[in-house]
Amino acid sequence: MSASLRIRPEVQADYGAVFDLDVAAFGGDGESRMVGRIRSSAGFDPRLSLVAEREGRIVGHVVLSGIVIQTPDRDVPALALAPVAVLPAFQRMGIGLALIRAALTAAASIGYGAVIVLGHPEYFPRFGCVPASAYGITASFSVPDRAFMALELVEGALDGIEGTVIYPAAFDDVTPSPLPLPRSEK
Ligand SMILES: CC(C)(COP(=O)(O)OP(=O)(O)OC[C@H]1O[C@@H](n2cnc3c(N)ncnc32)[C@H](O)[C@@H]1OP(=O)(O)O)[C@@H](O)C(=O)NCCC(=O)NCCS
Repeated sequence: MSASLRIRPEVQADYGAVFDLDVAAFGGDGESRMVGRIRSSAGFDPRLSLVAEREGRIVGHVVLSGIVIQTPDRDVPALALAPVAVLPAFQRMGIGLALIRAALTAAASIGYGAVIVLGHPEYFPRFGCVPASAYGITASFSVPDRAFMALELVEGALDGIEGTVIYPAAFDDVTPSPLPLPRSEK
């Protein structure tokens, strides 16, 4: 990875560049609009919306935001990792890895306990993600078991937490999408 890569919290002046980046990475503006809704939602923590900058240009973005795991007893707060995107010309250079690692480290240092991610089952285990079903945690929509994952930021944070992940309205219209499969798996 280039030594000039800088990862920092997003600021308002970045919003336009992040919108365009998500359009370029996802091929439409659904995720860009979703990011806008996440920013104005109660679960948004600006410390967990990070951009990757190379030579002054924003080349990647990730946001972790609040969700709840609804259990029979109580709602357990957690974070959703979605979306994460890197400009197409800068993909496969380690920028996504660096961004996600930085976001998870920031979340852990703030004191969040766990992260839920709907993503490619070959990609996210490298961060320690395991199928959420291993904890008894399910999605409220149909999703392949291996693609719906959970990560404890604090050991034991998900012990005994069996329930359903409730995504806030900010995620409506765009079901958090798993990574596109590598060509060989399509
Ligand atoms: C997914 C994404 C953020 C990854 O960022 P990136 O900077 O390209 O990824 P990195 O270079 O850090 O990834 C390194 C590893 O991930 C793997 N990887 C990257 N994209 C992948 C994909 N789409 N499917 C499976 N594996 C992938 C690479 O092969 C590499 O693995 P290796 O270390 O074993 O060689 C980026 O490809 C992207 O923006 N994609 C379009 C948007 C998207 O699908 N976002 C995720 C859903 S929210």
